Amino acid sequence: MEFLAISGSVRRDSTNTALLRTVVEIAAPADRMILFDGIGDLPIFSPDLEGDATPPAVTAFCDQVQRADAVIICSPEYVHAIPGGLKNAIDWLVSREEIVAKPMALLHASHRGEDMLRSLRLALRTVSGGFDENNFVSFPLMTKQPGEVRHIIMEPANCARVTGFIEELRNHVLQCRG
Ligand SMILES: Cc1cc2nc3c(=O)[nH]c(=O)nc-3n(C[C@H](O)[C@H](O)[C@H](O)COP(=O)(O)O)c2cc1C
Repeated sequence: MEFLAISGSVRRDSTNTALLRTVVEIAAPADRMILFDGIGDLPIFSPDLEGDATPPAVTAFCDQVQRADAVIICSPEYVHAIPGGLKNAIDWLVSREEIVAKPMALLHASHRGEDMLRSLRLALRTVSGGFDENNFVSFPLMTKQPGEVRHIIMEPANCARVTGFIEELRNHVLQCRG
């Protein structure tokens, strides 16, 4: 299958992006997982820019969502909320067909962030009937460097949790297809 993995952080040494990069590695070669790290390139959402006026970066992002069998999101919490860039990306998707039934699941790279998770789950429930809230895996990776993140996730017990997450997402996609 093809998965799109979206990081909610644009920080260079982001733990969320490092976790997703490692998950991309674990998923291959059985599944093709593409890391989307371009939320910082999307202009601020405005309904005035929908339709014919849609900016090219948004069209490219929506095309990637369209092509993916499922979307994975992994995001930090900023000020007890969804980071602005990720929320902006979700806002761009809200009135588009690409997202309506898209299978989705969350990974998490922190032992904290419950307010962000509550808000993100509500947003994803709102935009997609395919959001699977039951498939959720979290690792306490805050303050780790990307190399350390990879090392921790590649440990057999953690790698098995990632493999289980991907397997459940694959089954969810098949279930959604009916
Ligand atoms: C501006 C800012 C606000 C933050 N607010 C919170 C917060 O409200 N709750 C929390 O648990 N962590 C908060 N953090 C910590 C980040 O969530 C944490 O460092 C996370 O690991 C960053 O993700 P990244 O490594 O992928 O960039 C904040 C960090 C920054 C820079």
